[in-house]
Amino acid sequence: MKICVLNGSPKGNESVTMQYVRFLERANPGHTFTTENIGQRIAAIEAKEEEFKKVIAAIESADAILFATPVYFLLVPAQFKRFIELLFSHNAGSAFFGKYAASITTSIHFFDHTANEYLHAVAEDLGMRWTGSFMAKMDDLLIEMHQEELVRFGQDFLTTAQQHPAIRRTYLPITSTRPDYKSAGIPMPLDCGDKQVLILTDAAPGSNLEKMTMRLASSFGKAASLVPIDDAKMNGGCLGCCRCAFDNTCVYTDGFSEFWKETVLPADIIIFAGTVKDRYLSAEFKQVFDRSFFMGHIPAFAGKQVGFLIEGPVAQCATLQEILRAYPSLQGANLAGVVSDEDGIAMAVDELIDSLAARCLRLSKSGYVAPGGFPAVAGHKIFRDDIWAEMRAFFRADHAYYTKHGLYDFPQSDLRQRLSTTFLSLLLSIPSVRESAQKEMKKHMIEPFEKVFSESPVLKRQKKEG
Ligand SMILES: Cc1cc2nc3c(=O)[nH]c(=O)nc-3n(C[C@H](O)[C@H](O)[C@H](O)COP(=O)(O)O)c2cc1C
Repeated sequence: MKICVLNGSPKGNESVTMQYVRFLERANPGHTFTTENIGQRIAAIEAKEEEFKKVIAAIESADAILFATPVYFLLVPAQFKRFIELLFSHNAGSAFFGKYAASITTSIHFFDHTANEYLHAVAEDLGMRWTGSFMAKMDDLLIEMHQEELVRFGQDFLTTAQQHPAIRRTYLPITSTRPDYKSAGIPMPLDCGDKQVLILTDAAPGSNLEKMTMRLASSFGKAASLVPIDDAKMNGGCLGCCRCAFDNTCVYTDGFSEFWKETVLPADIIIFAGTVKDRYLSAEFKQVFDRSFFMGHIPAFAGKQVGFLIEGPVAQCATLQEILRAYPSLQGANLAGVVSDEDGIAMAVDELIDSLAARCLRLSKSGYVAPGGFPAVAGHKIFRDDIWAEMRAFFRADHAYYTKHGLYDFPQSDLRQRLSTTFLSLLLSIPSVRESAQKEMKKHMIEPFEKVFSESPVLKRQKKEG
């Protein structure tokens, strides 16, 4: 069989992900693998029709498609995202239709599931049948057990592609209705005090999004800066070189780092106003997120409010919604809300926009950042462990930040807790103590809270303030 590998890495053949593909190729000499280095060659593929056609011809002549890509910012790199947009804008679905597809990603397992879900959904939108994802941690291939897993994944993919079984579609097609939005008048500006608001937008002239951003900006009055994404001055997508790891200096000197530090980071309230393209925001927006990687793995938006203003069917894109919910909390910020133009009634959209503005401001003034829950807690632990274990040799800026801000909060470092847990474990190995503890389990679980109700300084303050 002929397998067409679509490589999303901007590093081309020198990519970690491609080593997994090389391994698969060696393990399956009876099949032919041809690789298209999409992420690396996106500029030429986008600019030259014949380059795009060459890729499509390779896809057409293949029996099955393998997406192979690193995970960048909870998705695929912006360059690969752009290619996916080109497939839809060029109506290239027929080249893929009916073929079997799978994906291989490498990452540090931080939101690799969302990247793979995205590829899965896009593959189904292109009429393909999804056989599965292989989500590797970067160095897994060095370990024999993972090499075995990869071989079995390859066998399953190739066998399925050969046998043509029926496969259930997982993601429903998007039904796009585009109600025209027109704001009913201009809202009274809120009293923003000294809060700064940034609205970063990729709105096309005359679009719903442009009108929505205008209304939101009016709500914030003079506090708002409405900044088109072009002002980010990007000459290209993140190259994945990780040269920034040492001291947060990007190899690009196109002005993006200054833009991020001087225009985005000082804002108290950040609104990302974007348009849904396929099942994510635009590749330009993705490029902004990817390029912000020069700041490393730190919560760069700590204490800020983040909102999303979206044109397009965000409610139908579960993975996009998960990413929008997770991104602010992973950056240490609070998600104030997501507003879209899906509600056909303009007045309802107006109300949602006004509420978003008021909520951003109220929460910014009170300083509320919701506990992030599973994604933020799990994300922190992955970063903490990986930076400390190996990445700190290169990611020195991260290491310095984690040390300074107490983010290396390993449970092993809490000596008091370790001693009390050891003592309690010994105690509970005495049958009579264990029996009585088991009987009183519920009571013991809430016992420590009792003193909170009598001693909490927060409750005392609240009582005083009425
Ligand atoms: C800009 C950028 C963003 C990244 N984002 C993520 C991420 O969201 N989750 C993750 O687990 N790894 C992330 N990584 C790590 C890469 O996925 C990982 O290094 C991958 O193995 C690189 O593969 P490649 O050499 O094939 O390009 C990111 C790396 C870069 C450079």
